[in-house]
Formats: sequence, structure tokens, C-alpha cells
Amino acid sequence: MKKILITGASGFVGSFLVEEAINRGLATYAGVRSTSSRSFLSHEKIQFFEMDFSNKTDLENKLAQTQFDYVIHCAGVTKADTKEDFFKYNFELTKTFVEVLKKTNPTLEKFIYISSLASYGPADNHPTEVVLESNTPHPIDTYGESKLATEQWLQSLSSFPYLIFRPTAVYGPREKEIFIFFKTFSKGIEGHIGRVPQKATFIYVKDLARLVLDATLSEISQKSYFVSDGNHYPTQELGRIARKVLQKNPFQINIPISIVQVIAAINEGFGRLTGKMPPLNLEKVKILKSKNWQCDTQPLKNDFNFAPAYDLEQGVTEALHWYLENKWL
Ligand SMILES: NC(=O)c1ccc[n+]([C@@H]2O[C@H](COP(=O)([O-])OP(=O)(O)OC[C@H]3O[C@@H](n4cnc5c(N)ncnc54)[C@H](OP(=O)(O)O)[C@@H]3O)[C@@H](O)[C@H]2O)c1
Repeated sequence: MKKILITGASGFVGSFLVEEAINRGLATYAGVRSTSSRSFLSHEKIQFFEMDFSNKTDLENKLAQTQFDYVIHCAGVTKADTKEDFFKYNFELTKTFVEVLKKTNPTLEKFIYISSLASYGPADNHPTEVVLESNTPHPIDTYGESKLATEQWLQSLSSFPYLIFRPTAVYGPREKEIFIFFKTFSKGIEGHIGRVPQKATFIYVKDLARLVLDATLSEISQKSYFVSDGNHYPTQELGRIARKVLQKNPFQINIPISIVQVIAAINEGFGRLTGKMPPLNLEKVKILKSKNWQCDTQPLKNDFNFAPAYDLEQGVTEALHWYLENKWL
């Protein structure tokens, strides 16, 4: 049985990757920290693989004991206090991990890196209106810069079987950030930011997991892909679907971007004091202000025959039912 290690397994995306890997009949190792929650990792077939990226010797000893066929590196941070932290947790730790893997797991067949569309930035000023692989990347936040640096380092490795995936906003059950919109919605307020129309893009977490496992098991390597469901949506679409599913009619407010910026700055100040960066911070405002997040998904169709099973309405409906059943709403 082929062995796969999935890092960041305790997180939102990672937990779905683990489930998909088990569905494919792989011996599935959930890469977790000793402190990681295991609440979404209850499947009896999961084997836990405790790892500490900051301890290279320990990592080397552990990885030398198990030869993996595939690795999906999904661990990463989307919020951090400083630029140094973003680079430490997204770039440096990936670099250490890959160096150790190359030494200890020389027969590794595939290394998948879960990057982000943030590494290229939005399509706001692109003549094609869609982010293409051939564009020069223009990340607009530090998170995107750290993801881009990691991608560029991986792409410099001539004989390493990497694949890079750059998902746009991922949503679905267990997700905690877009969820804040639904939570506020269910409490009677539908909040939107600014009045500029947006072309937002999304991918449902189960479609992402299916795609990534198809790619893992494919013969393709040393390529990079953007991931979305191929559509673009006005941001009001989330509210329209939530109104239908939750049968609520909340009070709608449009918060001017200048006010959001002030709230984000205050949040960020508290975040630094408490050591826990809140979801709405100044970096996040840069993302929310962007108007167009369309990206080219044709290569996914060409190489993996990828067709999403969920559009936003189907995915949000399923996610909202999960939030209700699990008493998050
Ligand atoms: N969600 C999205 O919309 C989206 C979009 C594009 C790309 N991505 C990428 O997808 C990946 C997963 O994101 P997510 O939304 O699932 O985030 P998440 O729920 O916050 O999960 C992050 C995972 O990374 C692990 N992790 C973080 N820092 C670590 C460290 N220093 N050492 C070891 N493990 C560490 C966490 O482990 P603990 O549980 O121990 O903290 C957790 O398992 C990230 O790389 C992110 O950049 C996400």
C-alpha cells in the first residue's frame, strides 16, 4: 500500500485531504504537532505522525524511519504578527522540510505544495482580467509574498517531483473565516465591505481535495496551477444563498472601506498584544479591497480533467447545513 504524509492535517483543508487520501486506499499519515487538535481526524484508518518542523534533527530521525511515496504539504500560516513570522512559517519551514525529505526519502514520487492565489495577487490591473501562469506575480500582502518565495524556491529544484497548487478562497464545512460572515448573518446583520463591485472566486474544499489527490497520483510533476471553480461571483452572492438556506432576512449594511481599515488597525493592535492575530487585520483589508480574483483554471482541465462537482450555491448550501448540524450556527 502506498504511503502518503499530509502536513497541516489538523486544519480545515488538511483534514479533507486526509479523508480523500483514505478514500483512495492510501496508507494515510496525518502530520500533526503534539499540540494540534485532532477533532477532525477521527477516522480509524488515520495514522498520526507527530512532527516538529522547527527541530531539524528530530524531523530527520522521524522521516528516516518511514519511506513515503507522496507528501502533501498543507501546513502553513495565513495570519502572522510580522513579515519574519510569515517567512519563517511558510518559507523557512517548507525549505527545511524539503531538504530533510530529499535526504531521508529519496524515492518520494510526489511533493504537493499548497500555496495560494495570493502568491500572484489579484487580476485587478491585468489586461486579460484573469491571472495567468505567464503573468509576473504581484502579491499584495506579506502572506502572498511568503507563498511566492516558497514556490520560487521549489521551482529552482531541478530534480524534485513537486507540484504547486494555488487555491483561491477555499470554503466548506469546518472553515472558520468565511464562516464569520455566516455567523454575523445568522445574528441579523449582513455586512459588506465598500461599494465597488467585486469578482470573487471560490473553491469548495471537497473539490480541492479530489483535485489534489488526482494530481498526487498522476504522472505529472514540476508544474503549478491556480485553483477555483472557474466561475466568478459578486460578493453579495454569499448573502443571497445564506438567505435562501437559513430562511433569514438580516439587516444589510455596507461598511465603507475607510472604516474597515480603522477597525482592522485596532484589531491588529490587539492581535499583537495578545499574540493572536484576528481574521480582520490590515493585511486582510488589502485582499478585501481587491476587485478581481479570477484565475486561469484551463490547465487543471487539460492535465487532470478537473471539473468541480460544486458551484457556490451547492457548496455553501452543504456547508451551511454542516454549520447548523454541528451547532456552529
Ligand atoms: N483556507 C483558504 O481559503 C486557503 C486558500 C489558499 C491557500 N490556503 C493554504 O492552505 C493551507 C491550509 O490552510 P487552512 O485554511 O486549512 O488553514 P488552517 O485551518 O489554519 O490549518 C493550518 C494547518 O497548518 C498547521 N501549521 C501552522 N503552522 C505550523 C507550524 N509552524 N508547524 C506545523 N504545522 C503548522 C496547523 O497546525 P495546528 O493545528 O497545530 O496549528 C494546521 O494544521 C495553508 O498553507 C494555506 O496557506 C488556504
